[in-house]
Amino acid sequence: MEKYDILVIGGGPGGYVAAIKAAQLGKKVACVDNKEFLGGTCLNVGCIPSKSLLNITHKYHDAKHNFASRGIECKDISFSLEKIMETKYSTLSGLGQGIAGLFKKNKIDYFNGIGEFETNNRILINSNNGDNITIEAENIIIATGSVPITLPDIEIDEEKIVTSDGALSLEKVPNKMIVIGAGVIGLELGSVWSRLGASVEVVEFADDILPGFDLDVRKEAKKIFEKQGLSFKLKSKVTSAQVIEYKVEVNISSVSSDDSEKMDCDVVLVAVGRKPNTKSLNLDKVGIKLDDRGRVIVDGQFKTNIPNVYAIGDVIAGPMLAHKASDEGVVVAEIIDGQHGHIDYNTIPSVVYTHPEIAFVGKTEDELKKDQIDYKVGKFPFLANSRARTSLETDGFVKILACKESDQVLGVHIIGDAAGELIAEAAVAMEFKAASEDLARICNPHPTLNEAIKEAALATYFKPIHL
Ligand code: NAI
Repeated sequence: MEKYDILVIGGGPGGYVAAIKAAQLGKKVACVDNKEFLGGTCLNVGCIPSKSLLNITHKYHDAKHNFASRGIECKDISFSLEKIMETKYSTLSGLGQGIAGLFKKNKIDYFNGIGEFETNNRILINSNNGDNITIEAENIIIATGSVPITLPDIEIDEEKIVTSDGALSLEKVPNKMIVIGAGVIGLELGSVWSRLGASVEVVEFADDILPGFDLDVRKEAKKIFEKQGLSFKLKSKVTSAQVIEYKVEVNISSVSSDDSEKMDCDVVLVAVGRKPNTKSLNLDKVGIKLDDRGRVIVDGQFKTNIPNVYAIGDVIAGPMLAHKASDEGVVVAEIIDGQHGHIDYNTIPSVVYTHPEIAFVGKTEDELKKDQIDYKVGKFPFLANSRARTSLETDGFVKILACKESDQVLGVHIIGDAAGELIAEAAVAMEFKAASEDLARICNPHPTLNEAIKEAALATYFKPIHL
């Protein structure tokens, strides 16, 4: 039987990064994953394919609707969905092969299959090629990620009633799509199909879109998405969805009144959150404890209640984000190596890759109010930023929240072109405990979108120049 220092179960952004880091630290490492390519949900059915579709559909939509007014004549703009899907596949397969190459370079053994616990250091691998093997490891890292949450009485077929998995691979643009849930997935994938011509109705249980985002950002985002053609039914829930011949019949009822209605559509996307993926691990066999939301319980060192078994990423508490999982992957490998890894959870950014993008790091105003922290706010609109003006991308703003007393930056919220790239500057500043004055005194190249962060910082500690 093969014996390893570390076996990682799950080859997503948490697991494969942990495996590489551990190998770099001199450990003998194996990783088991059952997806087509290494890279987990993120690469196979998440971040990567969705960003590919978002990028291509944005270009198509921009060309069709905006090029003429900018002096670019394009006649008969059309698209091939088949070619779009091929491009998406070649992007993700290229990246997946890249991870496999990194595994080879770092001498990590990769098993394609499903791993389950036999004992606390023996894992049975049900290989995708039909072979079953058992391997032994001194330490085991659970990095099995998450799966979509489904709704009672709504049967997923991944063709007409789909989760994000199916919504990334539709064979035809639906005429009408109902999206259940106005969170990150609902808005990103709703945008993809809307840009290709679908009429998209988003049904949301809460009284607003994008739970957890800053209120100003949510308001601005809703206005922009409505302008783009998405429509929202807030405080509403889908009580049933049934495929009847070629259509899906959907019943929607109000959360706050007795109102209800019936709607037909071609595709329903269920995007109401994700849950930890622990089903096939056989955790009961070794007595690994879960919390009341099914997440593996770990201590500050990512250790479960079984001393040689660790867990990271979506399967434990915290935001379900690829980059959070990767950072945990690095740190858990360092901890197993006897080092002291550390993550500042307050500086993990979140991004929605719609157009414009939406990004934040740190606290929202609501959170600061709840924590009774005195804060000040500085805001700067992209309409007053010269780079945004030259690229005609003037929607949105940068908003900075800083401690009233110390001026330390506590939260940065951006809605605007390339917000997902811009937010990294704010994360660096917050990691180094910058004051808003520090950010305001950093020299930015001109003209750039970053200048909107500088101006918002100027507005936070005193006054902006260009407003
Ligand atoms: P989410 O938690 O972001 O949003 C789900 C939405 O569905 C919420 O607004 C919730 O109020 C609503 N909802 C729940 N039950 C409902 C019901 N019965 N009827 C109507 N609405 C209902 O979840 P989402 O969008 O599925 O994403 C899952 C996870 O994946 C999130 O943690 C997200 O951060 C992560 N993710 C991150 C991405 C990124 O970083 N760009 C991209 C995609 C996913």
